[in-house]
Amino acid sequence: LTLATALDLLPKVELHCHVEGTMRPGTVLELARRHGLTLPTENLDELYSYGSLNEFLAIFWLVQSTLGGRDDWARLGYESVVDAAGHGRVYAEMFFTPARHLEAGQRLADIVAGLAAGIAAAEAETGSKAMLIADIDRAFGPGPGLQLVTELGELRRSGAPGIERVLGVGMDSTELGVDPKSFAEAYRTAAGFGFRLTGHQGENSPPSAIAEVVDVLGAERIDHGLSLVDDPALVRRFATERIPLTVCPNSNIRIANAFPTLAAHPYPKMREAGLLATLNTDDPAMTDLDLGYEYFSVAEAFGYRFDDMVGIALDGVEATWLDETGKRDLR
Ligand code: ADE
Ligand code: ZN
Repeated sequence: LTLATALDLLPKVELHCHVEGTMRPGTVLELARRHGLTLPTENLDELYSYGSLNEFLAIFWLVQSTLGGRDDWARLGYESVVDAAGHGRVYAEMFFTPARHLEAGQRLADIVAGLAAGIAAAEAETGSKAMLIADIDRAFGPGPGLQLVTELGELRRSGAPGIERVLGVGMDSTELGVDPKSFAEAYRTAAGFGFRLTGHQGENSPPSAIAEVVDVLGAERIDHGLSLVDDPALVRRFATERIPLTVCPNSNIRIANAFPTLAAHPYPKMREAGLLATLNTDDPAMTDLDLGYEYFSVAEAFGYRFDDMVGIALDGVEATWLDETGKRDLR
């Protein structure tokens, strides 16, 4: 058994994965044709090419635009969980970002019901579980963010189909030029409905913005949190309070171009500082990644052994939003 195979088989959880970023290129093409959308290329090997975070986000949005309704979301949810299960993922809290679809007139109830139905079918087949986090798309501003969480709360109150899968609320998309504090009302409203809270920050914004997401917005986790290492005092605080970071090292190389190689990534510094730094893929289909390779490449780049990687996987369990019984079942 090679280390790569052992880490592929190792039961793992994932807390930073965008369901739209898991879409198989063949599915993107099929849905685009069905809805009469033109892709920049029909060469599936070239579909996912970009040179910067902004170019990546443009393709991400294009992929999102192929999701035309409930059945498309169900297919995506199903394929996403089946694909991840093939690389040892046993549990996920997975993002979906419906701003574009809601603006285009889709109903949040259909999106949630579709995703939940597809995930349930994949769970029954593979045993791999997935819950959902509804992400605010920062590029749309605070108004649509508040609208999203208000509608989520209404779905929860009315017990809408699939809404029990949505554990929490987060935010993603562009960080530059966006003040995280402007989403305070949306976060307060989400908390009022009982949703758990996380947020993307520090992918390419300073550590002060990370602190705001925790202190002003009340986030329990930070997605990426890469720039945290630039503020040693904040690192100590996050380590002491065990505030989880959902780190995506290969994504930071391939999407954000934050470092030339994986070896230059601060992941080992984060671990050595005692941070609860979990490992995740972010957008595996769009970056040609899977969670097994994420673990293996990190082990190889930093000289971690199998036991070290088991420790990282267990930290992932600690960082989930499961109750103690749920966590114990995964350990
Ligand atoms: N949405 C999907 N992937 C993302 C990333 N890496 N950064 C911000 N928003 C995203
Ligand atoms: Zn992300």
